[in-house]
Amino acid sequence: MTSGADMGTDVLVKAEVALRLERQLDAAQQITHIGSWEWDLATGAVIWSDELYRIYGLAPRSCAITLEEFLARVHPDDRERVQRQVTAAVQRGGPFGHSERIVRPDGSVRKLDTVGEVLVDAHGRPALLIGTCRDITDDPREFARRVQAGEQRALEMLATGAPLPDVLAELVRLVEEMAPEAIASILLMDDTGTRIQHGTAPSLPDAYNQAIHDCVIGSQAGSCGTAAFRRKPVFVTDIEIDPLWEPYRDLARSCGLRACWSFPILATDGHVLGTAAVYYRQPRTADPTVVELVSRVAHVAALAIERRKIDERALALSERTEIIREDERTHIARELHDQLGQSLAVLKLEISWLAQRLAADSAMIRKLEEMNQTADGIIQSVARISTGLRPAVLDILGLEAAISWQTQEFAQQTGITCALSARLDNLKLDTSLATAVFRIFQEALTNIIRHSKASRVTVDLGFEGSVVVLEVADDGVGLPPSRSRGHSLGLLGMGERARRLGGECVVSPREPTGTLVSLRVPLRQDQGSQQITSPHVVG
Ligand SMILES: Nc1ncnc2c1ncn2[C@@H]1O[C@H](COP(=O)(O)OP(=O)(O)OP(=O)(O)O)[C@@H](O)[C@H]1O
Ligand SMILES: [Mg+2]
Repeated sequence: MTSGADMGTDVLVKAEVALRLERQLDAAQQITHIGSWEWDLATGAVIWSDELYRIYGLAPRSCAITLEEFLARVHPDDRERVQRQVTAAVQRGGPFGHSERIVRPDGSVRKLDTVGEVLVDAHGRPALLIGTCRDITDDPREFARRVQAGEQRALEMLATGAPLPDVLAELVRLVEEMAPEAIASILLMDDTGTRIQHGTAPSLPDAYNQAIHDCVIGSQAGSCGTAAFRRKPVFVTDIEIDPLWEPYRDLARSCGLRACWSFPILATDGHVLGTAAVYYRQPRTADPTVVELVSRVAHVAALAIERRKIDERALALSERTEIIREDERTHIARELHDQLGQSLAVLKLEISWLAQRLAADSAMIRKLEEMNQTADGIIQSVARISTGLRPAVLDILGLEAAISWQTQEFAQQTGITCALSARLDNLKLDTSLATAVFRIFQEALTNIIRHSKASRVTVDLGFEGSVVVLEVADDGVGLPPSRSRGHSLGLLGMGERARRLGGECVVSPREPTGTLVSLRVPLRQDQGSQQITSPHVVG
């Protein structure tokens, strides 16, 4: 038999063991950054372990937890999904898992991996949810995954044609997200390779960005100017004492910047395209994780900058080719019209001279009459070919008249009803702009003939502010659901012509049926500003 004293000792020992186990469990949770929880579905009561409170940035057991309380602490972008996943887990029963971001009271965001299980009561009904949450924010694998995801985002933007500043801004955002105290900046090398210019640094003061814009690189030109000069990373731990910062020390001090590590952005052939840097507001020695992060970002930035340079060159080349083509067309059109047209007119005169002298020979007269008709036919063909190459009306009377002429021709040739509303007030536009708009218009009409089966076309030409707007709408069959543009160049060419002039050409489905080509091209700054602000402007 066990005595009363023994029983008391037993209880004490058990309590002691339970306490030690509890402490052990808490220590294990702290070491692994894993918190645990349970949620009683009948009462709604939620119990968190001390470590889970700490993960949420709260003092252990400092507040009562409910499902609503928990959801309120989930990142707003994840809240709805988490709520859905919890509901689905309760309905389905058994084990479940998801990851979510939470927001601590100080605003910092942590990423958690949750695994749990739904336990059922004696009747098989869901009664209790238990689970663990692991804080994976500082896990090196999670860090690598997030950096990779950020790089991928930037590369996807690059591949889908986003402007370079947007791609660089994404990279700067990535650095600042992964290295929370860092202020990231990307500078770009100018064409001479001697100066660095502002690229993207949204968290640096504007005054600072302006002051370092266009600074000459050199052996003592702050972290970035020196990194670009040396083509090697430069780590300045304390701007206050580093000789490299001599010329910019006061500027950095006035902006509260104390440390700056800069990495050259190098092209594949090794020349410098710019710099990627992180600043800190306190002196700081290089941290290997951030160094690795910024070097990777510099590499992606190099891809982006080089890619956009290739795009720019390709665009310039196609612009040049287009100009040469247009010049040749204009030249041939004029030669045909002037030279051939004149020679044919002379030929007609000579035929009629001959006809007068051979009045007695009726067979000869008939032959000359036929020759005269042939000459007329050739004259007409020459005029048609010449106009097809480049309508003289575009150069003589301008875009509005050329569009109007082309619309009439189109209506006559196709029998499709055309309604034109042109409101340029006969403003004479820059030749390249007028040519581009006219050629885009011609391609839009060609597409209508070839693909649309339309019976009516409306053409609208006017201004919106200082932007020339051309809209060509047809009531045809509309664009095919999945356009295979593999070998078709028309729409591509329209878009490219518009882009070269800083505009855009959008081809979209039209309601209730048909297709709308919508072109917007800004006027050059030196053009007809008075006419643009006149009351005839299209609003
Ligand atoms: N107005 C339209 N109505 C219906 N479909 C159109 C219209 N315009 C374009 N499309 C569709 O878009 C596709 C691409 O047009 P795009 O002008 O690029 O090529 P294309 O006319 O087929 O060939 P090309 O390179 O000779 O111009 C067309 O093949 C056609 O299916
Ligand atoms: Mg086409």
